[in-house]
Amino acid sequence: MQNEEQIFLEKIDQEIKIEPRDWMPDAYRKTLIRQMSQHAHSEIVGMLPEGAWITRAPTLKRKAILIAKVQDEAGHGLYLYAGTETLNIGREEMIDQLLTGKAKYSSIFNYPTLTWADIGAIGWLVDGAAIMNQVPLCRCSFGPYSRAMIRICKEESFHQRQGFDILLTLSRGSNAQREMAQDAINRWWWPSVMMFGPNDDNSPHSAQSMAWKIKRFSNDELRQKFIDMCADQAKVLELTLPDKKLQWNEKRKHYDFGEINWHEFWNVVNGHGPCNKERMAARISAHENGAWVREAADAHAKKRRAREQQVA
Ligand code: 3HC
Repeated sequence: MQNEEQIFLEKIDQEIKIEPRDWMPDAYRKTLIRQMSQHAHSEIVGMLPEGAWITRAPTLKRKAILIAKVQDEAGHGLYLYAGTETLNIGREEMIDQLLTGKAKYSSIFNYPTLTWADIGAIGWLVDGAAIMNQVPLCRCSFGPYSRAMIRICKEESFHQRQGFDILLTLSRGSNAQREMAQDAINRWWWPSVMMFGPNDDNSPHSAQSMAWKIKRFSNDELRQKFIDMCADQAKVLELTLPDKKLQWNEKRKHYDFGEINWHEFWNVVNGHGPCNKERMAARISAHENGAWVREAADAHAKKRRAREQQVA
């Protein structure tokens, strides 16, 4: 084994962070670029389903909270793009990969938000799933990703809490409000369970990512933790999860659960979910409409460089 690779593996073994200037295997760099850029795209595309409810939030307080949450997601996307750039890829290239369909973003954001209760269900379930997946990423072996995740997770906890609070309020409201909350949970539950990705047997990247300590738990381990957490929290909400097979298993000390519809998952991942086309159209249009900002920033930077050269 070459010396550089040995040093890299020893650092991984001793829980010493890998920093951008350190030597790293090309495959490690590529895996991180893939995962971090997909994560960044997910944060940005994830603003769309909730952003649609900012003008329709039921009270001023709910509106202020939702605006803050959607802005947080923009911030998460930006930290993650900045972190990914330290791996020697430009932001333009990453955004191009998203807009041309080469890069993925989370399947969950291809579902529509039909009622206000969906904002509660996204907060409780989608952000809940995100936290379950992302808290271990705070211990990721790559320094910039792990540090970005510490801040992101603090904000995600507030997001989950506000979603739970929306559902709790609706659950304790009128019959119609309660039904609306239940309907939202019925629609968002299985897509949230799918967010963790394919079963471990069908996850091509998991084993290597876990060996490199990018991922700390497998997709199925995280999914099980999420289901266990939600099954208990649903009782507090006095609402149900739409899974007849959901049942505590005393032997396993976990909840058993029903079959996941993997056909639906891959269909959504491959671009055929209910909102894939709408989401991409919105991102492409935002990118095109923002061209003048990029041009102005470029022109300003050029002018500044020219002035600095004159002074020097
Ligand atoms: N949606 C879309 N694609 C998915 C997916 C999902 N829910 N789950 C897995 N995939 C894709 C993978 O990206 C991979 O595709 P690729 O080879 O083209 O990159 C393929 O399915 C096989 O999956 P693997 O399990 O082998 O892939 P990973 O080891 O990368 O694990 C992951 C997938 C668990 C999503 C991992 O990448 C991860 O932890 N990513 C970081 C967290 C993240 O991206 N979360 C997205 C949610 S967004 C969010 O949290 C915003 C918040 O505000 C709600």
